[in-house]
Amino acid sequence: MSAKVAKRRTPASKRSKKKRTTAKSESYANLVAQLRSLLNGEYDFIANTANFSSLVYNSLPDVNWAGFYLLQDHELVLGPFQGKPACVRIPLGKGVCGFAAKQCETVIVPNVNEFPGHIACDPASKSEIVIPLFDGERVLGVLDVDSTSLGRFDDQDAEGLNEMVTILVAHEEGLDE
Ligand code: SME
Repeated sequence: MSAKVAKRRTPASKRSKKKRTTAKSESYANLVAQLRSLLNGEYDFIANTANFSSLVYNSLPDVNWAGFYLLQDHELVLGPFQGKPACVRIPLGKGVCGFAAKQCETVIVPNVNEFPGHIACDPASKSEIVIPLFDGERVLGVLDVDSTSLGRFDDQDAEGLNEMVTILVAHEEGLDE
């Protein structure tokens, strides 16, 4: 008598989560490839950060703002971005951007209304991710990406966007040649 092997199927909820996870990592791999091609041979920081913002804004689903704030004398100053006009100056330590820059860490905010001191440039934004840009240990500024959906960003976004800003900074410093 042959032993019966119980076929265990992955529950539908887990299957779809796995699918979403794979789709997201594939989409970031694709974005990284597009970014490398946009940067190829060009070293102008404004041009490259402008194209970076456009790539993220137009490629990632459910994003209503994507752009840079650059550190100048303890203040973050608005840089190239895509989306509605935004606040120009954010003191270091203020808002999600200032907090991420001061703490030197990526910050994911699932609900901006629950983040003390969040700066609402567009009241439609509901969740946000902020990634610092580093030159060694020094913070150069941050990448800020907003969404009108609650909980839009997760660890995979943090990983993918961190990889992208790391490529950008290394390219500007000629470290990828
Ligand atoms: N919400 C950010 C401000 C920048 S805008 O979202 C474009 C913050 O709290 O720092």
